[in-house]
Amino acid sequence: MRGKILVLVLLLVGYVIMSSDANPSLHDYGDALSKTILFFEGQRSGKLPSTQRLTWRKDSALRDGADEGMDLTGGYYDAGDNVKFNFPMAFSTTLLAWGVLEYGKSMGPDLPHALEAVRWSTDYFLKSTATPGVVYAQVGDPNGDHNCWQRPEDMDTPRTVYKVSEKAPGSEVAAEIAAALAAASLAFKAFGDRPYSKLLLQRASKVFEFADKYRGSYNDSMGSGACPFYCDFSGYEDELLWAAAWLHRATKSPVYWNYVVHNIHNFKPQIEGGILEFGWDSKHAGINILVSKYVLSQQNLEATTPFLSYADNFVCNVLPESPTNTVSFSPGGLLFKSGVCNMQHTTALSFLLLVYARYLKSSKHVIRCNNVIIAQNQLVRFTRKQVDYILGDNPLNVSYMVGYGTKFPQRIHHRASSLPSIVQQPQHINCKGGTPYFLTDQPNQNLLIGAVVGGPDIHDAFADDRIDAAKSEPTTYVNAPLVGLLAYFKARSSH
Ligand SMILES: *[C@@H]1O[C@H](CO)[C@@H](O)[C@H](O)[C@H]1NC(C)=O
Ligand SMILES: *[C@@H]1O[C@H](CO)[C@@H](O)[C@H](O)[C@H]1NC(C)=O
Repeated sequence: MRGKILVLVLLLVGYVIMSSDANPSLHDYGDALSKTILFFEGQRSGKLPSTQRLTWRKDSALRDGADEGMDLTGGYYDAGDNVKFNFPMAFSTTLLAWGVLEYGKSMGPDLPHALEAVRWSTDYFLKSTATPGVVYAQVGDPNGDHNCWQRPEDMDTPRTVYKVSEKAPGSEVAAEIAAALAAASLAFKAFGDRPYSKLLLQRASKVFEFADKYRGSYNDSMGSGACPFYCDFSGYEDELLWAAAWLHRATKSPVYWNYVVHNIHNFKPQIEGGILEFGWDSKHAGINILVSKYVLSQQNLEATTPFLSYADNFVCNVLPESPTNTVSFSPGGLLFKSGVCNMQHTTALSFLLLVYARYLKSSKHVIRCNNVIIAQNQLVRFTRKQVDYILGDNPLNVSYMVGYGTKFPQRIHHRASSLPSIVQQPQHINCKGGTPYFLTDQPNQNLLIGAVVGGPDIHDAFADDRIDAAKSEPTTYVNAPLVGLLAYFKARSSH
């Protein structure tokens, strides 16, 4: 009897300890991970493979590049439109590859799908960089595309090809592609395709050389193809550093390390002064977090380089418990920064914090925000809270990921998702033929499973309105950082 009571007491104590320590949330991170990767299949351009799982999508844009005598088929549509914007596409690819590199071991059966998602981009970037001295930077005239509401499968808008070259340079787009190729080479090296990894790395170093040698912004070289769409506001210096940092990680060559150390000082004004942004335009915070792994592994580098203090600044800018925090939070706790598509900030900044916690894990480095010390597990807890908000722990109890949970957005701003599938309705739908599907308040026709939308407003309100693109449009760079985040939490939950 006493023995039984003791066992019961121990069980109860154990239960209390476990439930206060382990997660209170019931999220199925594994399910969310599978879906967040599946989303990329819905964004595929070009000839789809027989293994395509989102079967309502079919082949599209099979002539991309043909007018230039090039094969530029493949790659991803950016968001709810059908343009292949290589600058943000490359950023998404870098983050996808980074997630695989750090958390691939936790992905289980989704690892091959995640690698496939990276390869879908890198195969395309190998085509875009096949001609020395030229980088193809975009396919699709954004004005023509945005003027129509058409399925990718029957697009008849101009598939204008934009490129940068020695005479008309574009260091940000070229360097970001170099970063993506280098990051992907690391992911393929870690997970078993060494020949492909080597090919990617060789190309990355050539493309970086081109980006660095012929300096200039694609803003100027591409005219109306770049601005006002993915206009590079923050300059191309950050992409050059970011690419060099990835090339250093992939090659361990001191040449790249010296480039980063030397130029972080040249680029100091942009990196200091609170501009610790991270997104398709600005890589500043990411550079510092990325190289912190190497800095922490070497004697003296912590004291002689500024990277860790910049990385700490970033943490202090973001965490709500920091006295120097500069970002905003909704009452429900979602991270907010100004501009459209807020969720891109939430996922990208969360990813950086989680990776920084990982790199700091076996070090003695202490993050100080004025007199407040931030512990590594605070970074993880913060990240978890953001992810849980996205998955439904918010005042509306809405999941912002299509197909996850019971309540999720039904009217996402996405041409292919809102129009009937070509499988259902094979007749051509022309430019304006799609307008009624854009304007209807009926739910979309096809579930773009895994798509995470721009999200609620700063008061946690969300109207699920297709016309409000800032809130209802998904993009590749919202989902890409989530792949690593969800893999981490999947490995640490009971599901
Ligand atoms: C790109 O164009 C925008 C808008 O014209 C401008 O503000 C920005 O400084 C330009 N960026 C670069 C790197 O030239
Ligand atoms: C959300 O869920 C909580 C807890 O189940 C509940 O108290 C609340 O009323 C729900 N809110 C809405 C808007 O459904």
